[in-house]
Amino acid sequence: MERLVITGGRRLNGEISVNGAKNAAVAIIPAVILASGVCVIENLPYIEDVVSLVDTLTRLGCKCGFRDRHTLVADSSGVSETQAAFDSVRKLRASYYLVGALLGRFGEASVTLPGGCNFGTRPIDQHIKGFEALGAEVRIEHGQIIAKAAKLRGAPIYLDVASVGATINIMLAAVFAEGTTVIDNAAKEPHVVDCANFLNIMGARVKGAGTDVIKIQGVPGLHDCEYTIIPDQIECGTFMIAAAATGGRVTLKNIIPKHMDSISAKLSEMGCSVREGADFLTVEGAERLKPVTVKTMVYPGFPTDLQPQMTVLLCVAGGTSIVKETVFDNRFQYITELRRLGCDVTIDGRVAVVEGPAKLTGADVTATDLRAGAALIIGGLCADGATSIGNVKYIDRGYETIEHNLSSLGADIKRVRAEEPT
Ligand code: UD1
Repeated sequence: MERLVITGGRRLNGEISVNGAKNAAVAIIPAVILASGVCVIENLPYIEDVVSLVDTLTRLGCKCGFRDRHTLVADSSGVSETQAAFDSVRKLRASYYLVGALLGRFGEASVTLPGGCNFGTRPIDQHIKGFEALGAEVRIEHGQIIAKAAKLRGAPIYLDVASVGATINIMLAAVFAEGTTVIDNAAKEPHVVDCANFLNIMGARVKGAGTDVIKIQGVPGLHDCEYTIIPDQIECGTFMIAAAATGGRVTLKNIIPKHMDSISAKLSEMGCSVREGADFLTVEGAERLKPVTVKTMVYPGFPTDLQPQMTVLLCVAGGTSIVKETVFDNRFQYITELRRLGCDVTIDGRVAVVEGPAKLTGADVTATDLRAGAALIIGGLCADGATSIGNVKYIDRGYETIEHNLSSLGADIKRVRAEEPT
């Protein structure tokens, strides 16, 4: 078992290049199933979720190989298997995209129910509603989602919540459906747009991604392609917040500054300086960070996936801050771990009240999920003394060698093999 050990108190300084977007990668890799040619996908982050999905695709009969650490070459022409009941599927949330892709291509799919981070109930009713509207019969049996359609036909689908997963999944299933599918109240996140762009470059006809209404005109087939995944908004935001928390100055390269607007605005409101270039931005911390109110929202609002990291930052700001979580019903489980570092946070349902500035001190803590792990790292960077973080496997699901990036910015962080505390 591995732990990350951080000795805090150093300001982060320097520049790093941001990796490709995890949430785009985990949608685009299953989407490869829809292609009948060879797909070359560049700028993939080399993270556990990507490795698990590539393993799953291989088991389904796709010929996949990494040309280099960040480039996947995948040929799905030989895929004939429509059942995905492997361990690798259970590990991640995004395995639900296999349902849309297999259903879209073969008219049937049987996929183990998704795993992924636990922040309360994470239903998939909107995915199922979409598949059914397209003409599929869907049932859940023995832990499998089983979907079958004699023929898929385009249909209007109104999503009760602007779900990222449901929007992408319906897009995948509808690519070959006869006629037009209209997804109303669609999610607008950058990875939704990236997945639509990937499908379109292969010959799909998806219009409106990035707005509330997405229209998919069915096409008979998709061809091979080369595609480059967008930079990761959440990885970039994590490093921006880490720079601000340590009072450092960090430049993030290979990014789309527009995707960072909600984070840049909040950091500026706290007194930090954020300067943007065409494909980079520089964050400089402030001597005195001001308290703010943060409300997580669907894009272009403040992302829920940066809520834990932001909460730690607010712990070292002076005054009372409020964090409102509107996307998930139970995303404050990590607060217990933050308190071990000395954070002063009170939870009332979906609202956290943060009192700062707290004097953080290093402690043994455990990552409760991926982004909670990132928050603990930021806490460790600010804390006096050593912080040892367990359950690093969660962090590895979404950040490529995070300790190398942080070390290159001057952090004292290392990965050690150690027994987890009981
Ligand atoms: C995706 C991201 C995750 C991010 C989240 C919100 C991936 C692989 N994961 O997760 O990192 O935190 O978006 O930006 O891209 N909901 C329903 N019924 C459904 C689907 C969702 O009620 O059928 C609810 C969820 O419980 C949640 C809200 O809708 O409250 C948003 O969920 P959704 O956007 O679907 O998140 P995920 O796709 O699971």
